[in-house]
Amino acid sequence: MLSFLKEEGVGPGLLEELERFRRDHPAELTERVPAPQFHYYGREVWEQAVAALLCGKNLLLTGGKATGKNVLAENLAAAFGRPAWNVSFHVNLDASGLVGMDTFADGQVRFRPGPIYRCAQHGGFGILDEINMAKNEALAVLHAALDFRRVLDVPGYDRLPMAPAARFIATMNYGYAGTRELNEALASRFVVIQMPTISPENLDRLLERCCPTLKKKYRQQFGQLFFDLQRKCEGGEISTKALDLRGLLDALELMGAGVPSGPALDMGITNKTADRYEQGLIRDVVAARISPKLTRRELFES
Ligand SMILES: Nc1ncnc2c1ncn2[C@@H]1O[C@H](COP(=O)(O)OP(=O)(O)OP(=O)(O)O)[C@@H](O)[C@H]1O
Ligand SMILES: [Mg+2]
Repeated sequence: MLSFLKEEGVGPGLLEELERFRRDHPAELTERVPAPQFHYYGREVWEQAVAALLCGKNLLLTGGKATGKNVLAENLAAAFGRPAWNVSFHVNLDASGLVGMDTFADGQVRFRPGPIYRCAQHGGFGILDEINMAKNEALAVLHAALDFRRVLDVPGYDRLPMAPAARFIATMNYGYAGTRELNEALASRFVVIQMPTISPENLDRLLERCCPTLKKKYRQQFGQLFFDLQRKCEGGEISTKALDLRGLLDALELMGAGVPSGPALDMGITNKTADRYEQGLIRDVVAARISPKLTRRELFES
């Protein structure tokens, strides 16, 4: 991970600090330290995120879908060498789902620690995924953990101080259905990175990494297609439903498995909207770059 960061161009000063952090905080629960399959590409975001976590801040990553929020969060836990707990937030999540709850085992009441409790204990990275899906009241239990107090108050038990290496990285997506505004008290406990769309150069690297046998000329066309769609979205001609990097990668995977380019791009991109008229517009954008009849043999080196 550290050699990747060096390659990515992250400043030597930050890398030194990161190594010092790793030395100062001995490894724990190594089976929980992520070993990411994908790297996050984007030097500026990396530098901001590493600096914030080194300063002891908690991070909130906001941005559109498939901008790499979860990839970055996992990469960060790996770079800092900390065990990670991922909590998916939803409307019915309550304090006990975060901190823990009493259970009955062997004729006794026992406390079963939740993910936030274990983070606090082991100096872990808590990844609070889609944090704005939960009710704000449920999150009040996190307030003291997230600010200068750095303690977790467990009702009926002692206060647990957060281990020095513990950090929280929350993700949220403003547009998604079912999300709400984060209240100010919670938002004020994070520093916020607005995740940018991947740059053309980095998208090319990502595509090369994901589909190493895709021929270069097609790789470039698929990359351009993504930005064509982005321009159409910005111009208000199509909605953001079809602007989905995840969908593009899925479509490429399907092509690698033998689905022709037309249906694969329908499945990954065009059919994300149900509106026939919009589908037609999207198909035109796609057709300007990629013929719908391309087969695996034409697209990929054998
Ligand atoms: N800058 C980037 N570097 C590397 N991969 C990226 C980048 N941006 C997007 N991706 C790719 O986009 C896909 C989605 O990433 P991820 O799941 O982290 O997105 P997300 O922002 O959490 O999306 P959502 O808001 O829908 O949950 C992954 O395949 C990831 O590799
Ligand atoms: Mg996500």
